Amino acid sequence: MAAIELRNVVKTFGPITAVDGLDLNVPEGICLGLLGPNGAGKSTTMRLLTGQAVADSGDLHVLGHELPAQSKPARAEMGVVPQLDNLDVDVTVEDNLAVYARLYRVKDVGAAVDRCLDLARLRDRRRDAVDKLSGGMRRRLLLARGLVHEPRLVLLDEPTVGLDPQIRTELWTLIGDLKSRGTTILMSTHYIEEAERLADEVAVMHRGKIISRGRPADLISEHAGRQTAEVYAPPQRLTELRVSAEAAGLKVRPAGPAIAIVGSEQARDGAVPEDAVVRAATLEDVFVLLTGEEAE
Ligand SMILES: Nc1ncnc2c1ncn2[C@@H]1O[C@H](COP(=O)(O)OP(=O)(O)O)[C@@H](O)[C@H]1O
Ligand SMILES: [Mg+2]
Repeated sequence: MAAIELRNVVKTFGPITAVDGLDLNVPEGICLGLLGPNGAGKSTTMRLLTGQAVADSGDLHVLGHELPAQSKPARAEMGVVPQLDNLDVDVTVEDNLAVYARLYRVKDVGAAVDRCLDLARLRDRRRDAVDKLSGGMRRRLLLARGLVHEPRLVLLDEPTVGLDPQIRTELWTLIGDLKSRGTTILMSTHYIEEAERLADEVAVMHRGKIISRGRPADLISEHAGRQTAEVYAPPQRLTELRVSAEAAGLKVRPAGPAIAIVGSEQARDGAVPEDAVVRAATLEDVFVLLTGEEAE
């Protein structure tokens, strides 16, 4: 049994089809990165899984429970970490954890609190008020709080969006720890680097559908090849180069002020200019080619 099984799931909001015939299967024990640009339907998918939204049609199973009918028992077995910090600032670090432990009917609340404090590396701050913590500590606590009942499945919706790089790195370490313990993770993100670092498999989501899925290295070789050649030049020359590269059967994508000629190892006679910077193909090349959106 897979941890998550979605078949032909549709969710509309008036005229908008946020999730458009989605098929998604997440086997137990992997970290799946749901990678897509803003508006792709990632958060709506997450909300369907937590029972906060109900699909118009399709089959949804989470940990063997059918949704929406069994969303309560499903919810009890999963961990959900909100994107926005909603910690209780009036009580201590350990009380924030204890309240959730009781909410989830954890048997040994004290042990669960200790475990989470270790996980968040906040053992020595347990009696501090939440508003005395740094931003990074609060984020670690928020993540640990979602794990207080040792869920088999954890949903992370854009876990590091808008955070500064140091806090992001701290959270990546924590998510890495969680992964190594065998917890199944579904993590949405629009940051390529986040998906590349943490996900065993990436599902690229665009306009409510999964348009490609695989291990990052496999997606790269399938869609981008081995090498990418970037050329920085005035717009006029970039346009000419693009036309000639495409005429030679190569894929070209915008890359900020440059163009990137993807699969440049296959180029023959002059399709890649001498002054191009050749580098290994990346997941970013795949993302931009598939979604047509510039990466962040
Ligand atoms: N509650 C809602 N009401 C109306 N439209 C919504 C609602 N939630 C999401 N949408 C729309 O559905 C689409 C997908 O949104 P969302 O799932 O939030 O994407 P993502 O998380 O990938 O950025 C967007 O066009 C968004 O504006
Ligand atoms: Mg979102």
